[in-house]
Amino acid sequence: MTDDLSSGDALLSDALARIQREVDAAMAGFLPVPDDARAPLVEAMRYAAIGGGKRVRPLLTVATASMYAVSRDAAVRTGCAVEAIHVYSLVHDDLPCMDDDETRHGKPTLHKAYDEATAVLAGDSLHALAFEILSMPETAGDPFVRAELTAALAAASGWNGMAGGQMMDMAASAGDYDLPTITRLQQLKTGALLGAAVEMGAILGRVPEEGRGHLRAYARDIGLAFQIADDLLDIEGDEQAAGKALRKDESAGKATFVSLMGVEAARMQARALVDQAVGHLAAHGDEADLLRSLARFIVERDR
Ligand code: IPE
Ligand code: IPE
Ligand code: MG
Ligand code: MG
Ligand code: MG
Repeated sequence: MTDDLSSGDALLSDALARIQREVDAAMAGFLPVPDDARAPLVEAMRYAAIGGGKRVRPLLTVATASMYAVSRDAAVRTGCAVEAIHVYSLVHDDLPCMDDDETRHGKPTLHKAYDEATAVLAGDSLHALAFEILSMPETAGDPFVRAELTAALAAASGWNGMAGGQMMDMAASAGDYDLPTITRLQQLKTGALLGAAVEMGAILGRVPEEGRGHLRAYARDIGLAFQIADDLLDIEGDEQAAGKALRKDESAGKATFVSLMGVEAARMQARALVDQAVGHLAAHGDEADLLRSLARFIVERDR
């Protein structure tokens, strides 16, 4: 086990660079541009899905799967399914009817680069792509594993996951939410998909349900810490580094940990959650070092 942050950082930066390359290549393979009127749709999907993102979710899948000797290719493909849902959620999150943003990943948002109809359809098609990837025998040879992966991602994406959290986030009364309600909102909006990324690594590794408790606890804590970090970035971050417009949450009346407890308490809460997350991995040795480094990165990142 490595406690030394510098070696942890090298491990993490290499792992991030590698997964970014792998996800870009895999997404390009999943999205060949057809030679007809659908071309702008697929070009728009590529615009959103290739390059730009940190790829934290695929790295969580790969890092978890690697603890259980899963093939790298299966883990990357599964990570791409989670990332396809994430990318679609960002495309729709940026639409005028939601956060109305003009910049993402340092370039115009999809509906600015194309148009709103294309952005809606690209999001829809990325959502479908996620489940198409999970249905492929190349992703997992065992149909039971494919079904379990599908169930985990579906649950994390819909009304009882990301989309439900987005609904709570958009509610006009969000400004009145108390801490337990904001916690629930954040767990759904952001935590569910990060949790699925870890869970799906464990499913690929055929970890039995009863052996996943510590991984779920880890994922729950980093999920919450991740959104607190995003909300802190909105207040304190650098727009150039973040690649998106910041300082919007307060004027938009978003209910966040920061709006409720203030910057300092929110930062302390995020750090405590990360320590707690790392604590859940105590039974693992070196093989969990990447998950430990990722937990720290989640609150220390600048984008
Ligand atoms: C941003 O997610 C939206 C949230 C769920 C907080 P990320 O910070 O993972 O976005 P990218 O993919 O790296 O840009
Ligand atoms: C979005 O949260 C979470 C999603 C499910 C897309 P935010 O609206 O805070 O994400 P950013 O700040 O636009 O990336
Ligand atoms: Mg939003
Ligand atoms: Mg947004
Ligand atoms: Mg935000």
